[in-house]
Amino acid sequence: MLRTQVAIVGAGPAGLTLALLLHRIGIAAIVLESRSRSYVESRVRAGVLEHGTVELLCEMGAGDRLRREALTHRGIALRFNDESRRIDFEDLTAGKTVTVYGQQEVVKDLIAALCVAGVPILFETPALALGDLEGEHAGLRYRDAAGAEGTIVADYVAGCDGFHGMCRDALPAGASAVYEHVYPFSWLGILAQSPPVSEELIYTNHERGFALVSMRSPTVTRLYLQCPANEELAEWPDDRFWAELRLRLGSDRGGPDVVAGPVSQKGITPMRSFVTEPMRYGRLFLAGDAAHIVPPTGAKGMNLAIADVRVLARAFEAHYFRHDSSGLDDYSETCLRRVWNTQRFSAWMTRMLHRFDDRDPFEHRLQLAELRYVTTSRAAAQTLAENYVGLPFARADDLS
Ligand code: FAD
Ligand code: DHB
Repeated sequence: MLRTQVAIVGAGPAGLTLALLLHRIGIAAIVLESRSRSYVESRVRAGVLEHGTVELLCEMGAGDRLRREALTHRGIALRFNDESRRIDFEDLTAGKTVTVYGQQEVVKDLIAALCVAGVPILFETPALALGDLEGEHAGLRYRDAAGAEGTIVADYVAGCDGFHGMCRDALPAGASAVYEHVYPFSWLGILAQSPPVSEELIYTNHERGFALVSMRSPTVTRLYLQCPANEELAEWPDDRFWAELRLRLGSDRGGPDVVAGPVSQKGITPMRSFVTEPMRYGRLFLAGDAAHIVPPTGAKGMNLAIADVRVLARAFEAHYFRHDSSGLDDYSETCLRRVWNTQRFSAWMTRMLHRFDDRDPFEHRLQLAELRYVTTSRAAAQTLAENYVGLPFARADDLS
């Protein structure tokens, strides 16, 4: 049997950031991860970090490579009616920017920092069951990489095991409410060895569907196309992807040019908004995708996951070192204020930019009017910009 203060389930951005924050405060933690280290370090997902996320990673000592290799972005383009219009973040937010740096690079940097710090991360060790969440100590059963089962006894469990994890299911029936919206489309994403289509991200509303061009480096591009829900990857050979992207960007009609290159990764992401409330039950605290999912259009999921565990680490610090448990008691309410604001922003971006087959032409006209407004009114552009770069932690936590 293992004993620790905080057992963390999941070595994604939420679990790893929490483990490093707790280590720096002086609170003992063990991280369990069902997958292998190489799997989590190569899982291609998010790419845009809010400035607050970058600051936190740097403060924790996990930002050295990020500072050297990441790309600073001072704006994005919104493209509609075959025309790109820029939203200038620096101008609209008094100098704030976002950072393009792959999620798997963040994960690699956090794992490296935790290894140096000597914080145990047990890979290929799935959590199987949680118990005693209302008792003196929580119990967590796991199966290790050799197939043997064991138990961790912890003061608290942090459920950072993503949307498909098991921690959320440990809440008894009736202890939580779920709010959910599933969109009638998915994102098909590729990573390709080719120069980025443009210097900044382009979010495109096109009658054939949404397209997003992003990047990872001067030689690697990250591209997304809206596709039908339940689409099969086999429907999208590389040639079809490149041809469709060119159509949606208007590349043959003066739009941004696309240089096709070898595709190293391809995947489909369903689009969903999801919140479970509250984010705490007894000794279990849910954080990140385990508690909520946003559609990726606002680039918020990883940032929100990291914002949750920042609140949680501070609450543990007050509890263990100042005998003040109010932060733990308020954890769910504090996080949910940011969560719902982020849900609002991500749903708004999603509705403004995608093709909805069930909508009438009137609603499409409204979408275009909204895009024109957002790209011509300074007040409207500022609304987009301040949310995209990330609301200051204190302000989002205080939104009441
Ligand atoms: P996860 O990263 O899902 O980590 C959970 C971990 O728990 C996993 O490693 C999993 O293997 C492990 N686990 C599960 N069950 C168990 C178990 N029983 N025992 C032990 N371990 C377990 N977000 C942004 O901020 N910006 C973006 O630009 C962005 N773009 C995105 C684009 C795409 C295509 C996708 C799919 C997502 C995007 N996101 C973005 C969202 C972001 O990737 C997620 O919100 C983020 O991964 C959430 O982190 P997490 O740590 O909560 O969960
Ligand atoms: C990326 C992902 C997003 O969801 C987004 O809105 C912007 C960029 C990316 O993977 O680069």
